[in-house]
Order: sequence, then C-alpha cells, then structure tokens
Amino acid sequence: MTGLHLKDNTILITGGASGIGLELTKTLFRMGNTMIICGRSEEKLQQVKRELPQVHILQCDISDQNQRKALFSQVTNEHPGVNILVNNAVIVSYTRIQAGDYSAGLVNREMQTNFIGPVGLITLFLDQLKRQQNSAIINMTTGLIFAPHATMPGYCASKAALHSFTQSLRIQLKDTPVKVIEVMMTAVDTHFHDGGHVPDIAITTDKAVAAMVKGLLQSQEEIKIGRVRLLSILSRIAPHFALNQVNKL
Ligand SMILES: NC(=O)c1ccc[n+]([C@@H]2O[C@H](COP(=O)([O-])OP(=O)(O)OC[C@H]3O[C@@H](n4cnc5c(N)ncnc54)[C@H](OP(=O)(O)O)[C@@H]3O)[C@@H](O)[C@H]2O)c1
Repeated sequence: MTGLHLKDNTILITGGASGIGLELTKTLFRMGNTMIICGRSEEKLQQVKRELPQVHILQCDISDQNQRKALFSQVTNEHPGVNILVNNAVIVSYTRIQAGDYSAGLVNREMQTNFIGPVGLITLFLDQLKRQQNSAIINMTTGLIFAPHATMPGYCASKAALHSFTQSLRIQLKDTPVKVIEVMMTAVDTHFHDGGHVPDIAITTDKAVAAMVKGLLQSQEEIKIGRVRLLSILSRIAPHFALNQVNKL
C-alpha cells in the first residue's frame, strides 16, 4: 500500500471535539487539511470552533441512522472533495454483569455507536470515497481487540466486531483506490476513562496522535500504537497469559 498523503485532504472525523479526535483534528489541520468534525454536544463543537474557526463543525449522533444520512448529505454537499473518513467516536460503559447493571439497552447503545454507526457511515460514504484521490477509511479500535478488559465487556466486543469488519472491508476494497486502515490505540489519558480510572500506562493524546500520523505516513494498514504491538504478539503465542496481563492493569 502506498502511504497516505496528509496534506490537502478533506477529512471527516467523528467525535472530533474531544480526546484523541480533537488532537487529531488539530494536528491534521496544522498539516494543511480541511477538517470537518461531528459529535453530539453542540457546546463541545462550539468550543472547538472558537479555538479553531477554520474547522467545520456538525452536530450528529452517529448511532442514529437518520442523523448519519443527514451528516452524509451535508458533508458531501458542502465539501464535495471529502476523501478521508475517520471513525473515531466512542462510548464506553464500565459494568459489572453480575450486579445486574448491564442491560440489553446498554449493549445496544455501545454497539450502535461503536460498530453499527461506523459501518453505516462507511456504506454511505463509500461511493464518494471511491471517486476521490488519496482516499481512506480509518477505523479507530484498541489493543483490547486482542484481549478484552473485563470491566468494559460491551465496548471490547463492539471494537472486536469493528476489527473483524475492517479486515473484511480491506479485502473487498482491495481493487479500489480506497485505503482501509485500522488504528489499534493503546490507553490514552482522555475522558474515555471517566467511568473507570486512567491506567498507569496511559499516554498523552499528542503522543498517541504523533504515533498514529507516523503509521499513516508509513503506509501501515494496521497501526499498533505503543504496547499494542507487544499485546498482539503475546495474544497469539500465549492468549491466556495475555488476557490475564490485560486484566491485571
Ligand atoms: N482513550 C483510550 O484509552 C483509548 C484506548 C484505545 C482506543 N481508544 C479509541 O480512540 C477513539 C477515541 O477515544 P477517546 O479516548 O478520544 O474518547 P473520548 O475522549 O471519550 O471522546 C469520544 C468522542 O466521541 C464523541 N461521541 C460519542 N458518542 C457519539 C455519537 N453517538 N455520535 C457522535 N459522536 C459521539 C464524543 O462527543 P459527544 O459526547 O459530544 O458526542 C467525544 O467527542 C475511540 O474510538 C476509542 O475506542 C481510546
């Protein structure tokens, strides 16, 4: 795969108003790209707009099919050259299954945001991306696709599903100009951990995004950030050990 050019693109990042998405937005903007971000909170989006007026903001809940369709229409009408989709938005619940606080509704919300939402956006944007140069679908997953952390069962399952879908998508799109890239992120210090606790091994958003950009420029299809590379090897040669190590964190 030839490397992605990270200049003069038009890039849509879901969940771009905070955490890793915001850091990525700032970095790619500085590199000379047109940035569009979406999220549910208008307040968070407006905050980004005040800091970076050139970033285009759109309110959208990607777990809702109608809102995804509206997002697609608005983005492609206003930015007909959009060529990169970054599926970054996420929700996570830290749950104790035995305590009865894990419901089908909760699993459904996690699956809709973390799996169905990205898949829905990919299917909507696919023809658009196929017509562009230097086009890519970038799906954010996690090292926990190799070994789940038991405190976040729904989140880990939704990301494992996205990982599997991404592999199939890459094979199906191999004869198209669209690159399919998966970023397997390590623990990063963001609001993601608000319901649990920030692991000691967590890195900063700027380090996470610098590693991601390096991987994109090096044409990696699966970008394993930080300790994820080691975990991916460990999970192959000693899966039970890997699972235990992850759950000691
Ligand atoms: N942080 C980590 O340790 C870590 C580790 C591995 C992988 N990752 C991956 O990295 C990505 C970014 O994570 P993060 O740590 O930056 O998370 P974060 O700080 O919690 O940010 C998540 C973003 O997603 C948006 N969002 C949530 N639900 C949405 C929806 N239905 N529609 C649109 N936007 C929605 C949120 O904005 P609103 O609330 O305004 O919608 C927020 O901006 C995720 O894909 C995650 O799986 C993170």
